[in-house]
Amino acid sequence: MHGKRILLIVGGGIAAFKALDLIRRLRDRGATVTPVLTRAAEEFVTPLSVSALAASKVYRDLFDLTDEAEMGHIELSRAADLLVVCPATANTMAKMAGGHADDLASTLLMATDKPVVIVPAMNVRMWEHAAMRRNLATLRADGIRVIGPVEGSMACGEYGPGRMAEVPEIVDALAGMLADGPLKGRHVLVTSGPTHEPIDPVRYIANRSSGAQGTAIAAALRDLGARVTFVTGPARVAPPEGVDVVRVETAREMLAAVEAALPADVAVMAAAVADWRVENASASKMKKDGGGAPALAFAENPDILATVAKGDRRPALVVGFAAETGDENGDVVAHATAKRARKGCDWIVANDVSPATGIMGGTENAVTVIDAEGAEAWPRLSKDETARRLARRIADAL
Ligand code: C5P
Repeated sequence: MHGKRILLIVGGGIAAFKALDLIRRLRDRGATVTPVLTRAAEEFVTPLSVSALAASKVYRDLFDLTDEAEMGHIELSRAADLLVVCPATANTMAKMAGGHADDLASTLLMATDKPVVIVPAMNVRMWEHAAMRRNLATLRADGIRVIGPVEGSMACGEYGPGRMAEVPEIVDALAGMLADGPLKGRHVLVTSGPTHEPIDPVRYIANRSSGAQGTAIAAALRDLGARVTFVTGPARVAPPEGVDVVRVETAREMLAAVEAALPADVAVMAAAVADWRVENASASKMKKDGGGAPALAFAENPDILATVAKGDRRPALVVGFAAETGDENGDVVAHATAKRARKGCDWIVANDVSPATGIMGGTENAVTVIDAEGAEAWPRLSKDETARRLARRIADAL
C-alpha cells in the first residue's frame, strides 16, 4: 500500500475504537491516512488519539474556516486514492443512499470522484431492517464496495450479522482494492462451495466441498487488483473480504447469480455444483408414517460452466474444475481433458479427490492445469499457493 492515500471517515458507533487499530495497520503497510470524524464519532474516540495514530490533522467540520483555507472539502475528497467509511453506521449509510450532504463526512462522500468502501457495523436488528436492505442495495448499485459485516457477538449483547469485519481482514481487502496489480480494472467471476438441493424444507442433498479452494482463488485474484464477484454455495469457510459476495443454495440459484454477474473478463468455476436436484421435493417435511422410504426422483441441473462457456456473453477466459476420483475407465487427466472439450472452457483445473488424497476438505491441493497446449502438473501445494499460481497464470494469459 506504499504511497496510497486513504481518506478514512470514522462513523459514530461503538466499533469506532477499532478504527484506531485500522489506522495503525494501514500506516504499517505504507498507506497515508487522512482521518475525518463525524460528530457522533467524537463521542467514541478522541480527535487527539486519531490524530496521533494517523500522524495527520483530523478533519471534523465542514464550516471550519481553517480547514477550508488549508484544503477545500472538494480537494480533500479527491486527493485520496480511496475513501473508507469505518465503521459505517446505519445513519451514515442512509445519508449516503439518500445523497445527503449536511456535514463534512457526507459532503466528502458526495463530492468525491474516487472509489468508496464502507465497513458496516451495527446491531443485528438494524442490519436486517427493511430500510437498511433498501439502502444497501442502493449503495451497491451506486458502485460502493462493502466489507463485512460478519456474524458474531456484539457490544449490545446480541449475536448475529452486524459485527464489524476484523481489522486485519479489512486491511487485506483494502490492499487488494488499491493494488496496481496486473488484474486492475478486470472483473472476475468466481463460483465456490457446494450447492444444497432440497429434499423437503429441512433436508437436502449436498457434497463434501468446503469452499476453501474457491475462496483462496477469489482472494488471490483480488490481491492482483481484480474486482471479484464471488458466487458461493453454503461453504464451510467464510468468503474473503473485499470481494462482492453473492450467496446461493441451489445450482439453479447459482446459475441465476452467475448470469446476473456477467459480463466478466474471466470466470473461474470452482464450485462443486450438484449434478442432480430432487425433482419431487416436498413442500412440507416428509413424515416417517410407516409407508416406507420415499422414492426420490432426480432431474439434471443446468451445467453452469457449459452455459457460460457456450453463452453469448462468454468471458475471454473460462476456467473450469474437474474433481475426479481415478477409476477403471481412465485416469484423472484423461477425464478432465475430455471434460474441457465437452464443456467448452479454456482451461480445466483437475485434481484427484479420492479420499486417500485428503484434498477435499483439506488445506492442500495437487492440480493439473489442462489447456489447449496440454497438461501441466503442479506439485502438491497449499490451497492458498495453488490459488496464487492460478491467479498469476490468469493474469499472464489476459
Ligand atoms: O461435470 P463436473 O461436475 O465434473 O464438472 C466440473 C466443473 O463444471 C466445475 O468447474 C464445476 O464448477 C462445473 N459445473 C457447473 N455446473 C454443473 C456441474 C458442474 O458449473 N451443474
